[in-house]
Amino acid sequence: MQQRIFSGVQPTGNIHIGNYLGAFRNWVKLQDEYDAIYCIVDLHAMTTDYDPGELEKTRIETAKVLLALGVDPDRSLLYTQSQVPGHAELAWILSTMTPMGVLNRMTQFKEKTAAGASSNLGLYSYPVLMAADILLHRANLVPVGDDQRQHIEVTRDLAERFNNKFGDVFPIPEAHVPERSARVMSLTDPHAKMSKSDPQPKSRVLLLDESDVIRKRIRSAVTDSDPEVRYDTAAKPGISNLLEIMSACTGSPIDSLVDEYAAGGYGRFKDAVADAVIAELAPAKERFVALENGDVRDVLREGGMRANEMAETYQSEVRAAVGLKAF
Ligand code: AMP
Ligand code: TRP
Repeated sequence: MQQRIFSGVQPTGNIHIGNYLGAFRNWVKLQDEYDAIYCIVDLHAMTTDYDPGELEKTRIETAKVLLALGVDPDRSLLYTQSQVPGHAELAWILSTMTPMGVLNRMTQFKEKTAAGASSNLGLYSYPVLMAADILLHRANLVPVGDDQRQHIEVTRDLAERFNNKFGDVFPIPEAHVPERSARVMSLTDPHAKMSKSDPQPKSRVLLLDESDVIRKRIRSAVTDSDPEVRYDTAAKPGISNLLEIMSACTGSPIDSLVDEYAAGGYGRFKDAVADAVIAELAPAKERFVALENGDVRDVLREGGMRANEMAETYQSEVRAAVGLKAF
């Protein structure tokens, strides 16, 4: 049988090149080789303070960005998590098998609460809902950026616990993380990852930014005072980050970029990085503008119905396994 991939994105706005280079690019690539399911995880987006009207808007915008990047509803299933109740149901079942010690180790929870998020129960149990997303669809492979590895480990652990206790229901999924650009760093602090929630807009390049904004952001990226372009993540994290971004956008190996830009100064190099990013994003930006919100809604409605049918079939197997068979 064809292997299945599943991945999710939070509809929280500010979709940036880290999301694209770390994850979405693979989503588009892998939809030809796998049975692909992609989910806008709106239930996850409720774990931090949000505005309902804004969530409504960003759900559509996120789907639109994915479609513009090349996620193709004829080849992949694209839907919103809240349309499929099986996610929350399976999360509950898995939560009864999740030791609190496991959740206490989660770095994303620690980082988010340290950054000021209120520590509600949903944010704490976020990885359990994520495990449910993946296992609900019996996924084998999960294309994500490096920051999600720990959550995939929890998912594998929960799948194994469940299978040991109730029989062989879930495949054990694996993370699929790109070799390069799995962790795109912030442009204002190359020691922190680029993030949607960073209060500084200068820290990221958004997929929908205008070309002149992209150039400005990259020109003002924090680097160092030694003018040699060289890949060295410890001594030159800012330049190394730009080299990774450029390599990912052009397909040129880092070594050849270093050969080309080693001398000549940071100004010339940064302009070349900006050119590469602008060129890489241009086709998706054009497609984004051409997409109608009504069509995006149709894709999500259809996708949600199909995903729900599939999930119901799978969930009846789970219910039977745990002693909750329908009468
Ligand atoms: P999120 O925005 O947290 O919903 O993330 C959507 C996808 O983008 C996930 O697969 C993340 O791992 C990935 N991602 C988020 N930030 C970065 C980053 N700075 N570098 C690489 N991948 C990222
Ligand atoms: N936690 C992921 C993130 O913040 C989003 C997500 C939710 C996800 N459920 C998922 C990713 C299932 C992959 C698979 O980026």
